[in-house]
Amino acid sequence: MMEWLVAPGPASVELANTVGKKLDAKLLDVEIRVFPDGESVINVVGEVTNKRVLLLQSLYPPVDTHLIQALMLSHRLSQDGAEVYVAMPYLGYARQDKEFVQGEIVSVGVIARLLRAVGVKRLVTVDIHSIEGLGHFSFPTFSLSAFPLLAEYVKKNYRLERAVAASPDLGGSARIEAFARVLGIEHFVLKKSRDRKTGDVTVEGESIPELDGKDVIFVDDIISTGTSICRGAEVLKKSNPRSLYAVCTHPLLVDGALDRLYEVGIKEVIGTNTIPGPISKIDVAPLYSEYFSSVD
Ligand code: R5P
Repeated sequence: MMEWLVAPGPASVELANTVGKKLDAKLLDVEIRVFPDGESVINVVGEVTNKRVLLLQSLYPPVDTHLIQALMLSHRLSQDGAEVYVAMPYLGYARQDKEFVQGEIVSVGVIARLLRAVGVKRLVTVDIHSIEGLGHFSFPTFSLSAFPLLAEYVKKNYRLERAVAASPDLGGSARIEAFARVLGIEHFVLKKSRDRKTGDVTVEGESIPELDGKDVIFVDDIISTGTSICRGAEVLKKSNPRSLYAVCTHPLLVDGALDRLYEVGIKEVIGTNTIPGPISKIDVAPLYSEYFSSVD
């Protein structure tokens, strides 16, 4: 196996430690201080010249702080002669992958240019919002999928009866298929629309299958405010399901999302540790160690 050095970015220290152990890699010392005005000062201790370094830094909030830290670290490592591979388990700004409203900036394209400018050789994320987002990068990228792991967790831990998986929107079609395949259950997709100016979400009650007495699992890439799943739950509850669950890869959980999900009747919410937090039960370290152990 190729030898790796692992640089734990401040947003993903625990995950970096686990991935480092699995790769049998030496961990670089990343010292960080954040000044009262929010600026970060970072020092990397260790010899990296002509080495392969895997930097782990997820872009959850504070997104811009975590982004600039990733850029600073990548810059420093590549300046010192390392080959820099970046693992961004949650790729912030990935939802802004097109000009939805005229004049809007395609943010993920800016991220792509910045990472390239600081010498990143490859970027590996987990469940990017849409695969088109990777089209903005001019260097190799890859998106790993945590949905089989989420499905395995559900299989082992939930006692489900006549389960069915639901995607809150059409964009989640491939994700829900991957999830439902592992569990061998039916799935369906709700019709969601979002007002691009106000952000308001509407979910339509059309083409919902028979749900009477069934356990429904919502599956999404991101739970941010929880609005998409709450609106979906309000619609599905009219069909009398036995219970509702929600699983996602990236539990951003902003603005009291978790409380709102429980209030609307979701029995349990789980996510992965791309974003550490109270419901981040699934570890994505095995996905990364498997991927990087086979890079040549
Ligand atoms: C959007 O298309 C994504 O796949 C998620 O459904 C969305 O980001 C979730 O956001 P929120 O929880 O704020 O509705």
